[in-house]
Amino acid sequence: MTKYVCIDCGYIYDPAKGDERRGIAVGTSFASLPDFWRCPVCDVAKSDFAPW
Ligand SMILES: [Fe+2]
Repeated sequence: MTKYVCIDCGYIYDPAKGDERRGIAVGTSFASLPDFWRCPVCDVAKSDFAPW
């Protein structure tokens, strides 16, 4: 699955790791993230991410 990078801070969302601290299971694709999910580092919305 494709990784996505936050264009504001450089954080990379890796589906192989998920975001367990926010309840996102390992294996969750970026497209499957809930709309309320935000960058764990700088708190921007999904729209500020681009394929890595
Ligand atoms: Fe960010």
